[in-house]
Amino acid sequence: MTKNIFVTGGTGFLGSNLVKTALEDADNKVILLARDKAGNSAEKRVSEVIKTFYKKEDEYTRNKSRIEVVKGDITQPYLGIENRDRREELIKKIDIIFHSAALTKFNAPLSQSRMINVEGTENLLKFALDCKKHGRLKNVAHISTSFSAMKIRGCVFENFYKKSKKLTVLRFLKKSPVFGKILNTQFLFTQLDYFNYPQSKLEAELLVKKYQKKGLIVSIFRPSAIIGNSRTGEASDFNAMYLLLQVLNNMTPEEVPFNKDTPINLVPVDSVSKAIYLMGLNDSNSRIYNIVHPKSISLGFWMEQASKYFGFVNPKAIPLGKFDMGKLTNSEKKIFYPFIMVANSNISYDIRNAKSFLDRYSFEWPNIDKELLECMFKYCEKVNLLIRSN
Ligand SMILES: NC(=O)c1ccc[n+]([C@@H]2O[C@H](COP(=O)([O-])OP(=O)(O)OC[C@H]3O[C@@H](n4cnc5c(N)ncnc54)[C@H](OP(=O)(O)O)[C@@H]3O)[C@@H](O)[C@H]2O)c1
Repeated sequence: MTKNIFVTGGTGFLGSNLVKTALEDADNKVILLARDKAGNSAEKRVSEVIKTFYKKEDEYTRNKSRIEVVKGDITQPYLGIENRDRREELIKKIDIIFHSAALTKFNAPLSQSRMINVEGTENLLKFALDCKKHGRLKNVAHISTSFSAMKIRGCVFENFYKKSKKLTVLRFLKKSPVFGKILNTQFLFTQLDYFNYPQSKLEAELLVKKYQKKGLIVSIFRPSAIIGNSRTGEASDFNAMYLLLQVLNNMTPEEVPFNKDTPINLVPVDSVSKAIYLMGLNDSNSRIYNIVHPKSISLGFWMEQASKYFGFVNPKAIPLGKFDMGKLTNSEKKIFYPFIMVANSNISYDIRNAKSFLDRYSFEWPNIDKELLECMFKYCEKVNLLIRSN
């Protein structure tokens, strides 16, 4: 039976891959909520994204009838879908919702992160409740992040975390034997801004809990750091590890305040989309799933591979407790600060919920090995994110 799948954030990195995965299942119709932006209409923006999925124009034309664009904005009441008849038509026909729209900039002002990630999610959940009451909605897949646990040490479990405030994190950092003794208050406050995105995502998860109690079936998916396609390296957003790559390549520091044993969890975008699609479609338990790779790699391994590929000198990684921060110039501090906390963290993940579900579908994560990283780097080179020096 044809399923009507409603996707928010379909013009984004993960959302567009989710749309692609949903379209590969020929029975589906995909409805994308998108904004007009920079003089381009929502329709035009979506068609540009969709065209990239198909190698030939006729493949696109053939599939066009399975794609519907709804102009909207999650920060607005009724998701900004102004026409009432249109809204009611959608409410009646949507089967599954994938909510991927978000503001992912880590240190955007908290008010801005909250407006999109918290208020936007509440508008989406209200809309979903209408779909459940008056239509045939089965499940909502809410995309969160593994960072929503707001941890820099310990295990991230597949359960809800208490509402955490940035000050709690500050207290934790001050007490921490690694961070507390070495870092001054100014550093800590700069770091705290990087918790704005995780905090807003945590608050959004707690809203989900509230709506689950109202009877809505909502699964929460928490991917770790998403990297490009596992076969092509293709990515449309160059966050986290990509930003660090640029810093190391451009600055070529001799030493960095990083622990090379820090575990880094990377998940290719195609695998993440496939996992979330499978679970979003088939889950009816309102559970939380950590969408993380069963094997983290070490920061040292990643730095070694990146430096070999791009030809920059692999800097000596000195854990924070042993690093002389006085060595860094102010501009270096500014550049390194955002990475210091992550590069000295030690997080593991509980993946029992996700694994037991995905095992039923014989889902396997690709190995994050030298070859896969080279594939990512090659794509960075192709789009001139970094240029090889050797
Ligand atoms: N990328 C990662 O490494 C990563 C890791 C873990 C979790 N996640 C989660 O995965 C989800 C998708 O992330 P992403 O990397 O795909 O982000 P992205 O590339 O920045 O895409 C964000 C999407 O949200 C849309 N959006 C933002 N504000 C909106 C609004 N007010 N109304 C409607 N749409 C709005 C954007 O639309 P426009 O094109 O109009 O701006 C875009 O389609 C997010 O929930 C994020 O928290 C991402």
